[in-house]
Amino acid sequence: MDVNKKIVVAICGASGSIYGIRLLKALLKNPINIYLIISSAGHKVLEHETGYSNESFFSFLKDKGITFNKKAQLHTYNQDDFFAPPASGSFRNDGMVIAPCSMKTLGAIAAGIADNLIHRAADVNLKEKRPLILLPRETPLNIIHLKNMYVAAKAGATIMPPSPSFYSNPESISDLVDSVIARVLDQLQIEHNLVKEWGDSIV
Ligand SMILES: Cc1cc2nc3c(=O)[nH]c(=O)nc-3n(C[C@H](O)[C@H](O)[C@H](O)COP(=O)(O)O)c2cc1C
Repeated sequence: MDVNKKIVVAICGASGSIYGIRLLKALLKNPINIYLIISSAGHKVLEHETGYSNESFFSFLKDKGITFNKKAQLHTYNQDDFFAPPASGSFRNDGMVIAPCSMKTLGAIAAGIADNLIHRAADVNLKEKRPLILLPRETPLNIIHLKNMYVAAKAGATIMPPSPSFYSNPESISDLVDSVIARVLDQLQIEHNLVKEWGDSIV
């Protein structure tokens, strides 16, 4: 594993904050640097869906049983901090993941509106031709959502709706979520053992 790998992670106010948390859990097992931005709405939905209280994100991660690789680093930024590293194209990173991605943030990215650090970091990765992976969450999708996904994909984003797979016989919500996160890690070329590869003794 490349010890210098840098991944930007954003958690928006769409339902499914567990996707962002499981992604962090998987990433932090590796010796990589994570640059985390949680939107204001993301904080509120995280609180509603997981019981997290805004006081200490690090103790929340501990409560969730999330452990850090000795060489992993987690940097956290406010959504309004345009002085943070991910706001600049000169910050070389190995990819950004927005998990989950709200329709609002998707719309801002598709329209090129860099109104907060998440939008700006996504815009930067598109202009610098670096990986941008979106896990847009909404259902049903209206034509505006569909058009925004199309535009973001045309601009270079990878659109990965969080659609869990069932062919590996999941037994829990964690298994379902991990079936999505495994595909995200594949995109980032980060080794994992969250799910068995198809054809690898699946019954
Ligand atoms: C409990 C809850 C669940 C929500 N779920 C979604 C959702 O699944 N998808 C979505 O696009 N917005 C959802 N929203 C609305 C967003 O939070 C809202 O549009 C917000 O402005 C998004 O801001 P952000 O993109 O900066 O995080 C939800 C709001 C709440 C309170």
